[in-house]
Amino acid sequence: MSILLVARNRNMIPFREELLRLDPHLDVEIWPTCKRPQRVRFIVAWDQPDQFFSRFSNLEVVSSMGAGVEHLVTDPDLPAKVTITRLVSPGLKEQIRDYVESSLYRILRRCDDYLNLQRSARWEKLDHTTRDQWRVGMLGLGELGGAVAASLASSGWTVHGWSRSRKSIPGCISWYGRDQLPDMLSNTQILINLLPLTRETEGILDLELFKRLAEPSWLIQAGRGEHLVDEDLIYALDQNLLEGAFLDVFREEPLPDSHPFWNRDSIRITPHIASVSRANELAPQLLENYKRMISNQKLLYTVDRTRGY
Ligand code: NDP
Ligand code: OXD
Repeated sequence: MSILLVARNRNMIPFREELLRLDPHLDVEIWPTCKRPQRVRFIVAWDQPDQFFSRFSNLEVVSSMGAGVEHLVTDPDLPAKVTITRLVSPGLKEQIRDYVESSLYRILRRCDDYLNLQRSARWEKLDHTTRDQWRVGMLGLGELGGAVAASLASSGWTVHGWSRSRKSIPGCISWYGRDQLPDMLSNTQILINLLPLTRETEGILDLELFKRLAEPSWLIQAGRGEHLVDEDLIYALDQNLLEGAFLDVFREEPLPDSHPFWNRDSIRITPHIASVSRANELAPQLLENYKRMISNQKLLYTVDRTRGY
């Protein structure tokens, strides 16, 4: 019985090494090496090729290499009987908190304006804001969004959060369902997106949404590129509906050289690094689920395929 790791754009060697360090008896292969596909019951996948899964007739479980699972739930080649799992960990939460908080403080303390002043050797004091002057809104209050909302609320930010179901996160005002989204947005100046990509959330960051935000408004986008309507963001920035945006995820990654986002001072780009799956932290979770699969126990962090996350 073997575990197969597949990712076209990621180095899977550290995951293989870490799994073998935890259990030297494992048989772990990295695609395209796979000596006997019929022995594969557990796959760890990120950005897998098309028509990939059907060759593994004994496949039981596919784990995402990350928190997001849209590459699995939308794959027509993944049989319905195969269980999908994903990664959830304190380290992923800590990284996303750091990403969001560092973006917030860049806004608060006008770090980018000071960088520009420094570039022209200008000593100039700018007015800056404090956190009590801002209202922050989280789209998605799951493992990651919920952790960010709780952390921001506990450090004194006013936090509104939106999810499908009602939440009780201390200090976070809970809004839920499509009907309540406009009210949540009208209470939000800095919007943080940590939704999963599903049929319902695709294109949610559009002009209509930007128009509903309270002023001055900013976007911190770390969900998926397909949440954002790119041209609506550019229009909203041009119309001063938005002051600026921090973007970590894009419809096409790497972001093409010719993409208009690159040339905008009001857009801060990072290459999908808000929260990165690390082998040393996450291999134990993969191994745990592999062992649970073998012994027919309930798996950790399973995905509801009909919900899409
Ligand atoms: P979870 O599944 O734990 O949480 C998803 C949240 O979104 C839940 O609160 C859920 O509501 C809410 N939600 C889903 N659909 C809707 C909807 N239609 N309307 C309102 N709320 C909705 O996911 P995680 O927190 O673990 O991860 C979120 C996403 O973050 C990932 O899917 C991935 O896209 C992105 N991500 C980005 C990374 C990066 O580096 N940029 C790294 C890791 C993840 P409810 O709780 O009511 O079900
Ligand atoms: C993830 C990601 O989903 O890296 O884990 O975006």
